[in-house]
Amino acid sequence: MQTRFWHLDNDNELTVLEQAAAIIKNGGTIAFPTETVYGLGAAGLSQQAVEKIFIAKGRAADNPLILHVADKKDIYELAAEVPATAQKLIDAFWPGPLTIIFKKKSHLPDAVTAGLDTVAIRMPSNKLANKFIAMCGMPLAAPSANLSGRPSPTEAQAVKTDLWGRIDGIIDAGQTDVGLESTVVDCSGDMPVILRPGFVTAEQLAEVVALEPFSEAVNDKKPKAPGMKYTHYAPEAPVYLFAGDFDVNEFCLEAERAGVKVGVIASYAVTAGLSEGIIKKSWLNKTELASSLYLWLRELDEFGAKLILAQKVAEHDLGTAIMNRLGKAAGYKNIYKTDDFRQILQALKNNL
Ligand code: TXA
Ligand code: MG
Repeated sequence: MQTRFWHLDNDNELTVLEQAAAIIKNGGTIAFPTETVYGLGAAGLSQQAVEKIFIAKGRAADNPLILHVADKKDIYELAAEVPATAQKLIDAFWPGPLTIIFKKKSHLPDAVTAGLDTVAIRMPSNKLANKFIAMCGMPLAAPSANLSGRPSPTEAQAVKTDLWGRIDGIIDAGQTDVGLESTVVDCSGDMPVILRPGFVTAEQLAEVVALEPFSEAVNDKKPKAPGMKYTHYAPEAPVYLFAGDFDVNEFCLEAERAGVKVGVIASYAVTAGLSEGIIKKSWLNKTELASSLYLWLRELDEFGAKLILAQKVAEHDLGTAIMNRLGKAAGYKNIYKTDDFRQILQALKNNL
């Protein structure tokens, strides 16, 4: 399949969006930026078009998609009912990085909802995304535009790396802002439940509605958002998580002696103490870490790191979403200051 690539500039926006919208109306697939990550869009009410998304991504058929709308009113065509809790969340957070799960209307294609009786809907705040959906004139089904299991794309190049030749087009509008996928809240039951933490935090949601807090345990035992049960966000190199008291520099020096290239993702306070030659990705605060995490995981792979160490952050506010993604990227592997570094490195070399 031939993939078109449009780099947006000041002059070509309308032409590009028209061409891309025509492809969508024809049942094709287009990657486009949202405020969170790049999405892979297709006509959300067409079973055939939506199936192309699953093929392009290599996505499991039991993992439902989010329908993206350009207008709050569009939900009435898709949701069987809009409970008061959902309405409050919409008023407070739409357009924005919040996905809401509703009881669905029966005409929705099974591919979108994976046969569930609910549907996930969100209205992006990214202006271009909004214009694009409006021009398509229909809800767009859009998961993150990566191969299943890989870190989500926060820039068009990452989409290209994963999906070139597998989709009809990519709209390149630079780096996305938020960098992590939307918060998913299920409003189809008695009390809203957070199924996936995101940029809109539990603390912010709780100011608007009473809700069951997000719990990794609930999702791991009985995943309500089917997507949460799959390996996710994982680069090629194994990722280990560490806390503040871990001696990163000592570990990296030991790794260097063992011939293992290490990449470190940590606060400036930590990376400032690292020797030259260690590949570092540094953040000032959680917002910076969220917006660059996926890009860094991909870049460290490209630099040839054989091991990635990532510093943990406190699990509140945005930290909940960051630790959720980091935990999955790492397969929940931790490294502690009391661990035998040589043993870990030897095990790693044996696996190379
Ligand atoms: O920020 C985002 O949400 C991005 C951008 C492109 O909008 N999209 C995104 O889509 O992250 P995706 O497909 O990668 O993640 C959707 C998540 C999955 O975990 C899926 O299982 C869950 O939402 N989901 C979708 N429909 C659901 C439903 N009816 N019930 C429960 N979970 C649902
Ligand atoms: Mg995804």
